[in-house]
Amino acid sequence: MLSRSFIGGLTTLSLAVTVAAKGGQNQIFKRTDDASTGELHDFQVYPPVLTPSANAEGKNEYGCVVTKTLMDYDFASSYGSPYVVVMEFSLTSKGRQYDRLALMYFNSTEVWRTSTAEPTTDGIYYTYTKEMHQYLPLWKEPQKLIFDLGNIVNSEYTGILNTTLTATFFTVPDTPAAADKILPISRLLGASNESSVAVLPGEETAVSYTLPRNLKRAVVSISACGQADEEFWYQNTLSSDTDTFEDVSGALYGDGPWREVQVLIDGMLAGVSWPFPVVFTGGIVPGFWKPIVGIDAFDLREHEIDITPFIPYLSDGKPHTFDLIVVSVNDNGGEYATIANTTTDSWYVTGKIFLFEDEEGHITTGSMPVIKDPLPSLQITRAITTNSTGANETLTETTTAKRTLLITSNLKTSSGEKEVSWSQDISYENFNQLTDYGWYQSTTQKTTGTDKTGSSIGYSLSYEYPINCDWWYFESGEELGIYGNISRSLTFDVLGPAVFPNGVQASVLDTSASKGASGLSGVKETFVSASLGSSLRTSQSATASYLSDTLATTNSVYNFGSLNQTMSFQGLSYDGSVEIYTRDVGVVNNTITHDQTLFEVGK
Ligand SMILES: *[C@@H]1O[C@H](CO)[C@@H](O)[C@H](O)[C@H]1NC(C)=O
Ligand SMILES: *[C@@H]1O[C@H](CO)[C@@H](O)[C@H](O)[C@H]1NC(C)=O
Ligand SMILES: *[C@@H]1O[C@H](CO)[C@@H](O)[C@H](O)[C@H]1NC(C)=O
Ligand SMILES: *[C@@H]1O[C@H](CO)[C@@H](O)[C@H](O)[C@H]1NC(C)=O
Ligand SMILES: *[C@@H]1O[C@H](CO)[C@@H](O)[C@H](O)[C@H]1NC(C)=O
Ligand SMILES: *[C@@H]1O[C@H](CO)[C@@H](O)[C@H](O)[C@H]1NC(C)=O
Ligand SMILES: *[C@@H]1O[C@H](CO)[C@@H](O)[C@H](O)[C@H]1NC(C)=O
Ligand SMILES: *[C@@H]1O[C@H](CO)[C@@H](O)[C@H](O)[C@H]1NC(C)=O
Ligand SMILES: *[C@@H]1O[C@H](CO)[C@@H](O)[C@H](O)[C@H]1NC(C)=O
Repeated sequence: MLSRSFIGGLTTLSLAVTVAAKGGQNQIFKRTDDASTGELHDFQVYPPVLTPSANAEGKNEYGCVVTKTLMDYDFASSYGSPYVVVMEFSLTSKGRQYDRLALMYFNSTEVWRTSTAEPTTDGIYYTYTKEMHQYLPLWKEPQKLIFDLGNIVNSEYTGILNTTLTATFFTVPDTPAAADKILPISRLLGASNESSVAVLPGEETAVSYTLPRNLKRAVVSISACGQADEEFWYQNTLSSDTDTFEDVSGALYGDGPWREVQVLIDGMLAGVSWPFPVVFTGGIVPGFWKPIVGIDAFDLREHEIDITPFIPYLSDGKPHTFDLIVVSVNDNGGEYATIANTTTDSWYVTGKIFLFEDEEGHITTGSMPVIKDPLPSLQITRAITTNSTGANETLTETTTAKRTLLITSNLKTSSGEKEVSWSQDISYENFNQLTDYGWYQSTTQKTTGTDKTGSSIGYSLSYEYPINCDWWYFESGEELGIYGNISRSLTFDVLGPAVFPNGVQASVLDTSASKGASGLSGVKETFVSASLGSSLRTSQSATASYLSDTLATTNSVYNFGSLNQTMSFQGLSYDGSVEIYTRDVGVVNNTITHDQTLFEVGK
């Protein structure tokens, strides 16, 4: 948490040495070095990714295996100056530093969003392997790589981030179809060596493209996360309630706890994403995330919106506008809720359009899209209790939301006419309770959704991501304490042709020579038959506390953290589901207490 407020720029750095409490939600306090000994090996729990090794000739049984170093760079004071050159990612760092958000681009197209683990005195090390097959059309051309990792190094924050990025190119017998073209929805600043992310509100992602006229499928992906006042948006309160505890524990963050990212094509709603609450490595209580980082913290998931029903409309050879906006809750003075078409600050947003082309020369026609997009139902309740002398003592809010969206059209491709559709059905509920004059907060939230194309494409995704968090904060004289516990999970079931790899493709191959997620060994040479989809389930539960005095001179700190995580990853094939990877790992005070990994493919 603490750290993310700095993403805005250097001007806020002076806040780092003082406690700047914002209600029970202090966002910034001095980061103190851990008393841990030895280098800490951070990791995210994720299904293994195939990266084959090669023989002396740079080959394996399927063909060439070529590894290239893309980047080898020390990020010191790098705010505003992303690294530029004409993917296993490793990072080491030592000293004191915040968690940092990093965006990697090919020119103006974001290809990976990650965040860094907070270093310790004795140093940290981690490595993350990411499948990049979905960007095949970009890999086929020379690219300018822009890696924007905004770091600040000074006498207080000493952690230089020492990074290495390599890409391995290899052949496999059977790969999923990648898009033919990928277009960025971003600020398009690659040509001037800048980061193309739009920080909403204020900056815009709106781009205009004249698309090829022979499209048969198109998908927009959304990459979006909140920072600063919006990093913990699920803990934000309705704007009418932000002053509830102002006199005692400080002001709260507003715009309610619900967010929606909208994809707009010429102003028409094409799809939405109700964000997954990614928690970065310094988030809520930093002790939760050492050395196991939060779900998706090293690889922020992008939401896919199939815009195929718009193809007849987009195939007219004329320019069309693609835009992404983030909306929140307007509580109309505490009475009822409507959509507010903006947020307080700092949504880091980009998108991409993945285009799949039909035969050359064919012009796709069809009917115009019919869009059924009733406004989401948004419901709120709010209650404040006061003590006997009239001071606000507790605040309880509930926010629920539900949305359905259906877009249909007929598409005439070279292979005939078919109905295409995109539907989304999403529910959300959030309960936020602040007690003890705002020093304690309990949040319970759950988002559940299903996205589907029609059967002619055959993609569907079911997702669920609850997050429950209790945390207590106090500040007294020079002492600062935070105690918290969290339990959260992610269910992500994909069927059919997703644009982003779901991890099964990689596991389909001979894995005997694979490396990737840590802890794998003795994997047999096996092969799974054609994969239809995958099913990922992972849960984290953690408790942590932090106590320090804020005198820069003493630096005393007590840090305790414990986390358990389970993961189960299955591939779905014509023969049923196949357990591919399971992991059950626990940590207490930086030390792994148990770690059972099972990685077996199609016995
Ligand atoms: C970064 O790592 C490389 C290779 O391990 C090393 O040579 C270099 O000195 C490191 N740089 C810093 C600033 O630690
Ligand atoms: C980089 O992106 C800009 C804007 O999107 C574009 O004008 C330029 O041609 C691109 N350069 C390369 C080398 O692709
Ligand atoms: C972008 O960076 C490259 C490599 O450092 C440099 O050669 C080029 O001049 C830069 N372009 C601009 C517009 O700054
Ligand atoms: C109590 O809460 C209400 C609603 O947030 C706020 O308007 C009011 O100023 C608060 N009272 C005090 C004394 O802070
Ligand atoms: C958002 O709402 C304001 C006020 O209703 C309006 O002026 C503005 O144009 C809207 N912006 C968008 C992007 O819809
Ligand atoms: C009510 O709360 C206020 C603010 O915390 C406090 O100053 C006051 O003493 C409390 N009154 C009682 C009766 O506890
Ligand atoms: C946090 O711990 C308290 C006390 O043990 C428990 O009642 C609560 O359910 C826990 N919350 C979460 C999110 O795990
Ligand atoms: C982790 O699991 C262990 C063993 O099952 C349990 O004792 C401990 O309370 C769990 N810790 C957390 C933070 O959930
Ligand atoms: C965790 O570390 C703290 C000191 O930083 C210590 O007080 C506590 O006893 C440790 N807990 C365990 C279970 O080792």
